[in-house]
Amino acid sequence: MTTIEPFDAVDLIKIKRDGGELTSAQVAWLVDAYTRGYVADEQMSAITMAIFLRGMVSREINDLTAAMVNSGERLDFSGLSKKTTDKHSTGGVGDKITLPLAPLVASFGLAVPQLSGRGLGHTGGTLDKFESIPGWRANLTNEEMIAQLESVGAVVCAAGSGLAPADRKLYSLRDITGTVEAIPLIASSIMSKKLAEGTASLVLDVKFGNGAFMSDYERAKELANVLVGIGNDAGVATRAVLTNMNTPLGLAIGNANEVRESVEVLAGGGPDDVIDITATLAEHMLDLAGVTSVAVRDHLANGKAMDSWRAMVSAQGGDPDAKLPVARETHTVTADRDGVVARMDALPFGIAAWRLGAGRARKEDPVVHAAGIDLAVKPGASVKKGDVIFTLSANDSARFDRALEALDGAWEIGESVVDQGPLIAEVING
Ligand code: URA
Repeated sequence: MTTIEPFDAVDLIKIKRDGGELTSAQVAWLVDAYTRGYVADEQMSAITMAIFLRGMVSREINDLTAAMVNSGERLDFSGLSKKTTDKHSTGGVGDKITLPLAPLVASFGLAVPQLSGRGLGHTGGTLDKFESIPGWRANLTNEEMIAQLESVGAVVCAAGSGLAPADRKLYSLRDITGTVEAIPLIASSIMSKKLAEGTASLVLDVKFGNGAFMSDYERAKELANVLVGIGNDAGVATRAVLTNMNTPLGLAIGNANEVRESVEVLAGGGPDDVIDITATLAEHMLDLAGVTSVAVRDHLANGKAMDSWRAMVSAQGGDPDAKLPVARETHTVTADRDGVVARMDALPFGIAAWRLGAGRARKEDPVVHAAGIDLAVKPGASVKKGDVIFTLSANDSARFDRALEALDGAWEIGESVVDQGPLIAEVING
């Protein structure tokens, strides 16, 4: 029996082309018909371009998100004895915050289900970082994940292909049609995966600055508002924090070196910016989950977050005491004059780390866990001629030239530091 389709894709294309609104039924049909292959890629491309140019009202964005959630499975955490809370970052250079954050929040008795991805391009993927730990396993069954949430509280694992499959298909299309940057499409894409995951509350780390996916502050803020609106409208307590990605976060950019730095933070040390963002996001996650009047930083100082980390890594087959991989070759860059480190631009440092092997250009490429960059100083530091500024690490010294090319002009020694704005700029509460 042939299915009678309730709408015609061409009519919907024309509505969006002319700046109109699609009804809830039209959005639901469009996503379903595209997922099952009835609406063709070229028709969906026309719609995504029309959305890029004309936008969507918040009701349409909510409908689009719901339709993508409905395209796949939903996880069910209702059997857990703990409240769930999650975090999502729009990604940045040296952004290892999930590593200390998930065990820190879990150490207060909450469940943190972090379904993560692998990196593509200059921003690293959380799974790539964890996979530097010998034995650690990213693929868990839903039952394993739920059991670990109950016992340990924190899980970081690969998002299964069953969650929001329509988003995956649509994202691949956007990627090749110049429509990735549309806020309604970005926001529905991010939130469909989080809503399908089924967390009760969510904190979004929306980055702005040259190393961020959305560099312009006002655009990042607009994205944050739309994300928070979708979450709260769907019944998930959602908050966004706008954080600065003009300078790499922390001192380590890569995979194994970012794990090392995260362990330092869990041991009560580490760079101030990583500690501040970790503690701030943890406070918001705890607050949304109803855990108030706790001293978040105490659990970094007293070893409780470290205990959670060790339990989390071990539960997934990793050895928290294992030696992390070290690169075969290093190249050190030093100051050519006395002065103050005026700036270090995040994006070129991200590109350089990627060229050293820390990131991948194609989905199927492996990453070199030991490759990356270790900064010896951050903007504001006084240096003398000959002091180390940063060290590049790679398994093949032939990679250094292209990494150095990316870093040409990316940092500067001057008289004083260039003001890059606050690390934590604003909180969007919805
Ligand atoms: N991340 C996502 O998951 N989707 C987007 O569209 C952009 C960033």
